[in-house]
Amino acid sequence: MCGIVGYVGPEACAPILLDGLRRLEYRGYDSAGLAVHGGAGSIDVRRAVGKLRNLEGALRERPLEGQVGIGHTRWATHGRPSEVNAHPHVAGGIAVVHNGIIENHLEVRRQLLEKGCEILSDTDTELVAHLVHLEVAQGKDIETAVRAVLNTIEGAYAIAVLSVDEPERIVVAKSASPLVIGLAEGETYCASDVPALLPYTRRMVFLEDEEMAVLEAGGARITTLKGEPVERAETQIDWSPVMAEKAGYKHFMLKEIFEQPRALEDTLRGRLDRQNGAIRGEEIGLAPEKAKAIDRVVLLACGTSHHAAMTGRYFIETMARIPTVVELASEFRGRGAVIGEGDLVIAVSQSGETLDTLMAAKEAKAGGATVLAIANVIGSAIPRMADAVFYTHAGPEIGVASTKCFTTQVVNLLMVAAWLGHQRGAMSDEALAELVEDLARMPQLVSDTLKGTRQLVANLARRYVDARDVLFLGRGLSFPIALEGALKLKEISYVHAEGYAAGEMKHGPIALIDSTVPVVVLAPKDSSYERSIGNLEEAKAREAMVIAIGTEGDEKAREVSHDLIEIPEVPEALTPFLTVLPLQLYAYYVADFKGTDVDQPRNLAKTVTVE
Ligand code: F6R
Repeated sequence: MCGIVGYVGPEACAPILLDGLRRLEYRGYDSAGLAVHGGAGSIDVRRAVGKLRNLEGALRERPLEGQVGIGHTRWATHGRPSEVNAHPHVAGGIAVVHNGIIENHLEVRRQLLEKGCEILSDTDTELVAHLVHLEVAQGKDIETAVRAVLNTIEGAYAIAVLSVDEPERIVVAKSASPLVIGLAEGETYCASDVPALLPYTRRMVFLEDEEMAVLEAGGARITTLKGEPVERAETQIDWSPVMAEKAGYKHFMLKEIFEQPRALEDTLRGRLDRQNGAIRGEEIGLAPEKAKAIDRVVLLACGTSHHAAMTGRYFIETMARIPTVVELASEFRGRGAVIGEGDLVIAVSQSGETLDTLMAAKEAKAGGATVLAIANVIGSAIPRMADAVFYTHAGPEIGVASTKCFTTQVVNLLMVAAWLGHQRGAMSDEALAELVEDLARMPQLVSDTLKGTRQLVANLARRYVDARDVLFLGRGLSFPIALEGALKLKEISYVHAEGYAAGEMKHGPIALIDSTVPVVVLAPKDSSYERSIGNLEEAKAREAMVIAIGTEGDEKAREVSHDLIEIPEVPEALTPFLTVLPLQLYAYYVADFKGTDVDQPRNLAKTVTVE
């Protein structure tokens, strides 16, 4: 997730572009840059690593003059944050800013190198600039050149392109990543998102997938990638700037919960080989020989990432048949844990900076283990020290309570497990192909589940808002989800909550149950189903207020609970992606009804870099 902006009109564009980028910083903030038509056949570029203020400093030293330009605030996906990787990327008089992921970037890079192109950065975006330049060099105008290039690349993109030969226009295009065009008298804008444009215009045109547009001061002309003209009505946007930043949601956390289908799609992008029913192992970064040589997997993480790691253990044991342990990073560190060369350590961390996880991974590496990082922030400390990195592409998570990063961590762990299993012969070609198809349809199921459960969950949160204690129970893959449900509720609503392995109830915690305690039992139709129904019955018999999270149309679960939250029927490996959603929503609504600070709960920090 990055932010892009563009302006064509009579005003000096640099301040407008900078202002737009400031309003898009929530989409990414590891580097930023502008490209402006400077007159006299030149495009001038300024780029800086870090927050936008660094770019502002660079512009104070060397201002940019001109009325047509594009800008970018980056959230790295290919190549660590650095000035050379910052956008805009320029090749032979073409400047490009891009939000998205080009899937066939390795192949395109190879082809460009064969043609003798000098590629300076590690990004997929620079490749687009070279491709467009090669088309323009053959005599094509910028619109035709961009169209020709976009018909050859695969993946997700929203791009804005300048050509030194056509200083009065910007060409934009989109597929899967968002792009909005803003219209005003004698001025035309573009941006990744509405908030960037609200101070300038409320007249917006939303570009659809596989469409492009030529922006000039007098307006925008939209066509499909095939060149057919498109008529699109303007939309009048009435949001306040604060609402717009959260895409109309009341809090970032709610926005991020509803972003999960997109975050999962981006994280799966380029990693599933549907044609061959396989996982693209080169994305994981471990050599196939390494996969075969592993004796044991050790998962290290904290908090929500630890719950994701617990699902990872289940996947790795069942799919790859490798002995696996999960460790709280803070408990692993410094206790002299036995670790060696046969161990693959998977360090799971959204921020990639959590001190306990970092120190534990370093200790494991020093002991001879191979470290694979699963992180969301490119170039952060854990990926830097790891032997291999498999990034999640959730985009920046602003709410302190992790939601979209959790589900994307789980999907990466599932892909690692399946890839290891297949490499080691523990998972058949057929089973892998089936899983790949299941994963491909999963973002849609997540979207359906969010829409289908939101209202009922909000009603339940309203009903139980004053409960002092809440229990969450689950078995197998639902156990870490029960822990996650309890953690979410504790951290944002300050309600005491406990997650338990359902089988442990009768060994003590059942004594907590009475008529004042809501008990949430995860009971999807999986291999533990009958026993989970037993837990529902036990809780109901003790007069608890029982909420079941079960499979659509499960009359038995409905009968033995007070309320049934239904999720679509899916293979067992996919259940965590769906069962966690109503729990995230439940925590959110309880906190919202209580009026707590949902996005910045008391005493918590997004990144914990202390012991
Ligand atoms: C809870 C939450 C935290 C983090 C934990 C680890 O919602 O966000 O429990 O999961 O602090 O952080 P990372 O994943 O950045 O290592």
